[in-house]
Amino acid sequence: MCGIVGFVGKRACADILVDALKKLEYRGYDSAGIAVFENDIIKTVKAKGKIGEGLSVKLKDEPELHAVCGIGHTRWATHGEPSDVNSHPIGNGRISIVHNGIIENYRDIKNFLIGKGYVFESETDTETVAKLLDYYYSGDPVEAIEKAVSIIEGAYALGIIFRNHKNRIYAVRKDSPLIVGKGNGESFIASDVTAILEYTREYYCLERGEIAMLDQEGIHFTDLHGEAIEKELLTAEWDVESAQKGGYEHFMLKEIHEQPDAIRNTISPRVKNGLPDFSECGLTADKISSYKHIFIVGCGSAMHAGMVGKYLIEALARTPVIVDIASEFRYRDPLVAEGDLAVIVSQSGETADTLEALKLSKAKGADTLAVVNVVGSSIAREADMVIYTNAGPEISVCSTKAYAVQTAFMYLLAFEIAYVRGTINEIRCRELVKGLLDVPGKIGECLEDMSVYQFVASKIFSADSLLYIGRGLDNALSMEGSLKLKEISYIHSEAYAAGELKHGTISLIEDGTPVIAVMTQTALKEKMISNVRTVKSRGAKVIMICRSSENVDTDCADYKVGLPDAEDIFLPLIATVAMQLIAYYTAVQRGCDVDKPRNLAKSVTVE
Ligand code: M6R
Repeated sequence: MCGIVGFVGKRACADILVDALKKLEYRGYDSAGIAVFENDIIKTVKAKGKIGEGLSVKLKDEPELHAVCGIGHTRWATHGEPSDVNSHPIGNGRISIVHNGIIENYRDIKNFLIGKGYVFESETDTETVAKLLDYYYSGDPVEAIEKAVSIIEGAYALGIIFRNHKNRIYAVRKDSPLIVGKGNGESFIASDVTAILEYTREYYCLERGEIAMLDQEGIHFTDLHGEAIEKELLTAEWDVESAQKGGYEHFMLKEIHEQPDAIRNTISPRVKNGLPDFSECGLTADKISSYKHIFIVGCGSAMHAGMVGKYLIEALARTPVIVDIASEFRYRDPLVAEGDLAVIVSQSGETADTLEALKLSKAKGADTLAVVNVVGSSIAREADMVIYTNAGPEISVCSTKAYAVQTAFMYLLAFEIAYVRGTINEIRCRELVKGLLDVPGKIGECLEDMSVYQFVASKIFSADSLLYIGRGLDNALSMEGSLKLKEISYIHSEAYAAGELKHGTISLIEDGTPVIAVMTQTALKEKMISNVRTVKSRGAKVIMICRSSENVDTDCADYKVGLPDAEDIFLPLIATVAMQLIAYYTAVQRGCDVDKPRNLAKSVTVE
């Protein structure tokens, strides 16, 4: 779970590498470093901390670098604490590498190499790869790489430079992402195309078992035996602007405001003549009618989108849905089998547990449908069918627009399953699709005035702990609201089904405990009001999220966050925005690093 970059061209590369690394800081920001060919040596500069606080400061103290080729890394620590010595690049003067992933058999390799006289300095798994390459290197880089990757087990994307092969970068990967960018007289490697968009939009996806060699003449791909291979050149649709903050104080705020467009981009291409149409990805009506069970699997917010999907599919299509956390699913020998559909949800398309859940579902014979945002990501490539959510790059670690589009897709999927299975008729299906297409406009209304969210934030930002409660779809939404708040503001919070509170959790309520109550479902309104009164009478400070038109008595709620009117079913999707903005302004008022919360990384490519 790190970001790696590399550059070779004819201009000085240190600043280019640092710039590209900054775009990848969402993948990890414990330390960063670069290694470049300076004169006849490999010069390495690396430091603990975020790029701006560590690496950039150290580089200012260095004599100007003229190197035109080098590699860089921004780290999210897995083996060994964040420190200068555990930072990448890692090497020994002959070879230097950057690595994203986890080497599972590093202890065996380390013991083997210690037996050969190698001495280790860092606590990283990566150092075993650097030294293994050194051990096998006798003049031919491809031979050394081939031998090393035949030994290492786990996930890796590696950028490698050899001192004897000046101004040349080698790259190889398995299960961790890596793209190779083709610029004008210069080439790049990067964990993610957003890192190099400022320089080029053209790139190749490196696949398992392929080696890329980049030099000042261009890019050459071979298999592990050195046989040349041809690859398809792709063009990134995302522009530089969309990968920047666009005037907002934080990426999170920008991404919240992008939600109306993001939802349109997800839904519109899958609606034909007013009805859902998934033929593009191969999810035909025949298949939909044949599935015995539907599983939805993901992690974090992606799993919460799945929870909404479960409520919707079960309510509309009367078909049972099993939602699971990927890290649980993969180890509990799930009952997924041939004839089932496994919907695998992931923004990054690289989350390790989710990828393994996908592979397991496939191995057990189920059809797999990936719902991913990042084009060409591992989950997208591995699945039988793919829905790209078209949200554009999500940079903030805290997921907002990616969750919204995953959830919006769940609506459309539920409509299609219900229509195909005959539990709703064509008229109702058209009505629902139209309602969904109206959601972006309603979300736009919620984004017009920030003062209500700022006000609520001012009432909860000093709390130690709070509760989110809701029923039905609102319960699913509360789980996401609670995750947002704790993730970026570090306030402990818990989401609880409102009717379940009385079985234990209500004892947490004391004078002044904030409770965020979501009440959008008319059929559950009376039940919800009675749950809210119960916590209020025990001292809770209640913030009610409901329709603006709802009359909320002061003996029921202290503050109200109003939502535009819409059919009940759509309100939880619209209310998502209120949840996100309450969390956002609370974190801002607490002075938290909103886009890069502590202990987290954007893309969790390790278990
Ligand atoms: O890239 P993915 O959608 O697979 O990521 C899953 C979770 O790690 C992610 O949603 C996480 O929970 C977010 N940081 C929540 O804001």
